[in-house]
Formats: sequence, C-alpha cells, structure tokens
Amino acid sequence: MTSALAAQPEANYDETKVPKFLVPDPLTSFGGDAITDSKQWEENRKLEIYQFFEKQIYGKVPDLLDEYSFKVIEQDNNALGGKAQRKQIAVGLKKNNRSLNFNILLYLPTGNENAPVFLGYNFYGNHTVTNDPNVIITEAWSGNNEDFKISNNKATEASRGVRMNRWAIDKMLDKGYGVATVYYGEIDPDKNDFSDGLHSLFYEEGQTKPKTNEWGSIAAWAYGLSRAMDYLENDTNISSVIVFGHSRLGKAALWAGATDPRFAGVISNDSGCGGAALSKRKFGETIGQINTSFPHWFSESFKKYSNKEEMLPVDQHELLALIAPRPLYVASAVEDEWADPKGEFLSAQYATKVYELYDKKGISSTDVQEVNHPIKQTLAYHMRSGKHDVTDYDWDQYIAWAETFAK
Ligand code: GCU
Repeated sequence: MTSALAAQPEANYDETKVPKFLVPDPLTSFGGDAITDSKQWEENRKLEIYQFFEKQIYGKVPDLLDEYSFKVIEQDNNALGGKAQRKQIAVGLKKNNRSLNFNILLYLPTGNENAPVFLGYNFYGNHTVTNDPNVIITEAWSGNNEDFKISNNKATEASRGVRMNRWAIDKMLDKGYGVATVYYGEIDPDKNDFSDGLHSLFYEEGQTKPKTNEWGSIAAWAYGLSRAMDYLENDTNISSVIVFGHSRLGKAALWAGATDPRFAGVISNDSGCGGAALSKRKFGETIGQINTSFPHWFSESFKKYSNKEEMLPVDQHELLALIAPRPLYVASAVEDEWADPKGEFLSAQYATKVYELYDKKGISSTDVQEVNHPIKQTLAYHMRSGKHDVTDYDWDQYIAWAETFAK
C-alpha cells in the first residue's frame, strides 16, 4: 500500500472548491430498494451499512476474549471535598494467555444513588483530568508533551490536573451526573505500532498486525469503551451511560455508540474526519491525510479510499444514523476548520431522516448552522465559537441536553 503514504494534496478550506457529490441515501439500500419504516431499516439497511463501516473503515474485532475481570482497587466515599464517591476499577482482559489491564476512574455524585454517567477517554492519563491527589498515575506509554510535563513517554506527578479545563467535573456532579474516564493509551498506545496494546492479545502464532479487514486503533478504543461499560452497567449506583469523546476519541465514541446499544447517548465533540464530518466534501482533513498521518487508526482496507472518497458507497452521516434512535449530540467549533464544522452539521442533518423513522427529531432541512446556537433535539448539534477543544460551554450544553432523556 504505497498510495496512503504518498505526499498528500494541501487541505482545502475554500467552500467553492468542495466537489459536487452524491450524498448516499441512508434510506435506499445498496441494491436500490427504498426503506420506508424503522422495521425495514433495522432488518436490512442498518446491517449492510454497519457491515460496511465494520469491514472497510474501522475494522472488525477478530474474536471474543477468553477472560474478563474487574476489581475495585480504591474507593473513597468522601472524595472531592465530599461532593463525590471515587472508585478506581482495574479491568483485566485476557486472550491467548496474554493480558491487558486498564483503570477506570469513576466519580459518582453524593446524594444521587442512581446517577447517569458520562464515560469518555482522556488523552494523557486519569490523573490529568482532576487535581485529586488520589488518582492513580498511569504506567502506560504516553505521548510526550512539554506543556503537560510528560517526557520520556511516561506520565508523572507533574502532570496531575493539567487537563482539568476539559473536564467540567464539578458541573456534572452538581447536576447529579457521574463521570468515568480511562486513559486511551492503556487500551492501545497511539502510535503506528501494532506490537503492543489490545490488538496483540488476539494474534495467532507469527502474526504481527491485524488482518486487512480487522481493527485499527479507533475500533480498539471503541472496544475498550464497551469493556468499561461491562463494569459500569453492573454498578448499582449508575442508571445509564452516555459515551463522550473529543477529536480522535470522538471518532472512537461514535463507533462505540454504533457498535454497542447499551450506550444510552453519544457525544461527538469536534470528531472531524473519520468521525462526524462528511468525507466526500474533502474539506480540511481528508481520508488520504488521515491514513498518511495516522496509518494505524483505521482498518488497512480503508486505505483504498485515500483520495478516492467518491468511491465510498457510504458517508459519515450513515455512521451517525447507526446510533438512531438513541440521543446523539454532534458538536463543532468555528475555528476548527481541519475538522470541517459544516461537514459535521450536514452529516447530522442527513442522518436525521433515520431518526424521523422513529418519530425522533434531529436537524431539519430548514435549520441553519449558527454560532453558539445549539439545536437540542434527540439528534442535537452546536457550533461553539473558538478552537478545537472541550470547554465549559460544551459541557453546559451536554448536561442540559442529557436532562431531557438521562434521568
Ligand atoms: C489530528 C488529526 C485529527 C484528530 C486530532 C485530535 O488533528 O488529524 O483527525 O481528530 O488530531 O485527535 O486532536
């Protein structure tokens, strides 16, 4: 596969240069049949779209695990100044006599014995989302980052709390929500190397990387969210789980939402290319770009669509449609052009007809994309002012929206 590694065309940021393309119709099957109700959608169309994303885009999970275990390794019922119960849960996954462990950090609001929880990965370790001194520092490989004081690919005490600004934990707890997070590098280190992480557990003798149609890192991260869910759904103090993710982890949250119906809601924050944004617009990051910079994220089979978006029989609005009728929130930021905010909005708009099969509302054809003007339907959307980030504004919207279905 040399094409994906070839020099990529400059990113396009000019709306007049967006190619004309046919939007694949979620309600017309690959064979040309019209889908007119939710039964037909569930029974045939949803499956063929799902299988396409599974085999050609994110990649298939190769097999079942041999063993799964979890253990609450730390607990404090009076954490964060009495606001929360904190639990840290070690999850163990085993396959072919190889094992992988990851930790869930969970805060549940004091006084709500049956709380909805936001579950999402963090980029630099559980100890970065809060300055709570009791959060365990990850032992896993970390990407170096001077600003966050991570060097030698190892997190230390110096990076405690450095990402607090992205996690409005107090706001969530004050409104009666819990939060659960996992460091994504404990599932699969984010580097183009398939010798480690979850993939390696499943190899047959002599195998060194996933097969052509098998999972890349995004599918592995999505799978990890489901394994966290295996624990959370059995915690009697949790009523429901809304899966959340920013950027590459928003792509993972969307695929987790599509593959695992136990997630009661899904939030995609600035997920962009290979997430909520339409690929066929080729605006900002393209499939060619993403497969070149991050060759490990998708299935190997996705590389054949690098710079050939027009060949795709699906687009990302159909990933969103796979989550219907469950609540889904797509969010963009105005200055985040690399993630194509307009492509994310249109994607939500084009997915809406599937929500309508279930009498749920989304983004109608007359809705317009306005800055800081959220549209909070079952399929919700907002475009925040500012950059690629997760802010208090974003969390204010997600919490207010979750109030409409999660309690
Ligand atoms: C890069 C990448 C994006 C991704 C982002 C992130 O910009 O090109 O696809 O979403 O990193 O995860 O922050």
